[in-house]
Amino acid sequence: MAEVFFSRADYQRIADFLKERLGRIPAVSIILGSGLNPVAEELEKEASIPYREIPGFPVPSVAGHEGCLLTGTISGFPVLVLQGRPHYYEGYSIQEVTLPVKVLQVAGVKVLIITNAAGALNPSFKVGDLMLITDHINLPGMAGLNPLRGPNDEALGPRFVDMVNAYDPRLRSLAQKAAKKAGVELQEGIYIMVAGPSYETPAEVRFLRLIGGDAVGMSTVPEVIAARHGGLRVLGISGISNVIPIQPGEKGPDHQEVLEAGKKIVPKLRALLRYLIPMIYEMGV
Ligand code: HPA
Repeated sequence: MAEVFFSRADYQRIADFLKERLGRIPAVSIILGSGLNPVAEELEKEASIPYREIPGFPVPSVAGHEGCLLTGTISGFPVLVLQGRPHYYEGYSIQEVTLPVKVLQVAGVKVLIITNAAGALNPSFKVGDLMLITDHINLPGMAGLNPLRGPNDEALGPRFVDMVNAYDPRLRSLAQKAAKKAGVELQEGIYIMVAGPSYETPAEVRFLRLIGGDAVGMSTVPEVIAARHGGLRVLGISGISNVIPIQPGEKGPDHQEVLEAGKKIVPKLRALLRYLIPMIYEMGV
C-alpha cells in the first residue's frame, strides 16, 4: 500500500476548522499521555471538541486516551490541551501520529509541553515520579521510522532538523523553577522510544539501560521531531508509571498499572503547570 504523506493544505484545513470553532488558538499547548487526562481539570475550561468531530484528526483507540481537544486557562493564561494522542502501535502511520502537532504549528502554537507515561530504566526512579526529558533516543527513528521521511515542504520546516537542543534549555530551567515553587520533585533523564505495544523483555531492558536510557515509552519522540521541524519550543515530561524488571521470573508491567500510576502523577503535574504556565508567558512566547 502506498504511504500517505500530508500536505500543508491538509494541516491548514484542520487548523482553520479549529480556529473557527475555538475563536482563538493559545500560544501554549499541552499533550497529555496515558492515564494523565485528568490533568485537564487544572484548566479553567472555555471550549472542548472531541477528536472524532475534527475532520481528518486521528482518534486514539486505547483505554486512557479519550481524545478531546480543550481550551481554557491555567493560572489565568491561555492553554490548548490535547487530551490523548494516537500511537504508532494502534496502526496509525508515523505521519498520522504527528498530524496533531503539525496542525498546532499551522494554527500558531509556539510552545508544546509533551507528557507521557513511561517505564523507569533508572533504578533510582519510583512510580509516580516526574522526569524532565533532557534528551531522547529514537530507536524506531534510527531504524527508519522518522515522521519527517518523505517530501519536505520548506514552508513547514527544513529538510534536515537540528535536534541538539530539542528539549528547550530555557523551558527546562523554568520547569525546574516551577517544580521548586510547587514543592514537586522533578527528576531529569533520557527518554527512549520503542514502537510497542509489547513491553520490553529483561534483556531489552538491560540493553536500554546500557545505551543510556532513564525511561522508556511508546510515544513523544515523533511529536518532538515534528514540533522541532516547525520551530516550536518543546518541553517533555515523563510520568513514571512502572519500574521494569530486569530478571526473568519477575512480574512485568501491565496497562492497568500504567493507568493507576496516573493517580500519583496527575496532582504533581497539575501543581507544576500552575506555576509553569505563567512563567512561560512571562518569558515571552
Ligand atoms: N515500557 C514501554 N512503554 C511504557 C512502559 C514500559 O514499561 N510504561 C509505560 N509506557
